[in-house]
Amino acid sequence: MTERDEYFLGHRRAEQERLQRQAEQLGPEAARLLDDIGLAAGARVLEIGCGPRGCLDLLAARVGPSGSVTAIERNEEAVGLARKFIAERGLRNVEVLCGDARSTGLPRASFDLVTARLVLVNVPNPGEIVAEAAALARPGGAVAFHEVDWAAMICDPPSPAWNAFVELFVTQSAKCGSDPFVGRKLPRLLRSAGLVDVRVHPIIHVYPPTAPRRSIFLTFADNLRERVLAQNLMAEAAFTDLKEALRQHIDNPDTLVVHGPYFQAWGRKPA
Ligand SMILES: C[S@@+](CC[C@H](N)C(=O)[O-])C[C@H]1O[C@@H](n2cnc3c(N)ncnc32)[C@H](O)[C@@H]1O
Repeated sequence: MTERDEYFLGHRRAEQERLQRQAEQLGPEAARLLDDIGLAAGARVLEIGCGPRGCLDLLAARVGPSGSVTAIERNEEAVGLARKFIAERGLRNVEVLCGDARSTGLPRASFDLVTARLVLVNVPNPGEIVAEAAALARPGGAVAFHEVDWAAMICDPPSPAWNAFVELFVTQSAKCGSDPFVGRKLPRLLRSAGLVDVRVHPIIHVYPPTAPRRSIFLTFADNLRERVLAQNLMAEAAFTDLKEALRQHIDNPDTLVVHGPYFQAWGRKPA
């Protein structure tokens, strides 16, 4: 696997556990997207890049025993965890495949819905995955993505540590060839892949002091640490000081912590 193909935040076990918690936290907004799309019982769904859990339980519940959910995930550890998750939940209408979403080898024009969440923000050339998703949807079927855009990662009062971390993250994304502002580009990517009736739903998160996601930047800092130090982007002491200043700012209950926007965008493949 080349450097440009690596999942940007790495695959440490702690990152897999963060993704499992995140799947739970983002469940309600994922469910609303499925309501908007109108996913019906009996549907055949593909989830791209499900990680250790993704939306598998939500999708399985909606399509029911007469439907099916296939997932394709590139990372073997995540595949193992996702399979464990579906076994523990008894989700018999779900199967998780290990493979690359850019060239799945799955039957073309065969899924009622192809969907992915927070995958495109981690990959170079997101259009490749969108094109594959569109090819896999059946005529009349839907393609839906849920992505972040780092345009409004803001706090108040302002914090130099916060700003330095956002800048570091954005720089590091660019080095990996991924785009932290991909969220706003979803409608364009969908239309370029031939999808029509494209709709967009924006989401902004404001995390109160008790919200688990309030400290997500600290986890991202841990995920990026090795890479930042290996590339001499920052000295170890400076990185430690930055993370500590960021922690203090986030830990202050008077700090307003805003993340997003997130965009959910979906379109239909012409019949
Ligand atoms: C941030 S995680 C999101 C996991 C899950 N979609 C969720 O929202 O909980 C991104 C996932 O996409 C996977 N991924 C990235 N590029 C991929 C590709 N080309 N094919 C399959 N999976 C990919 C990564 O391995 C990782 O598990």
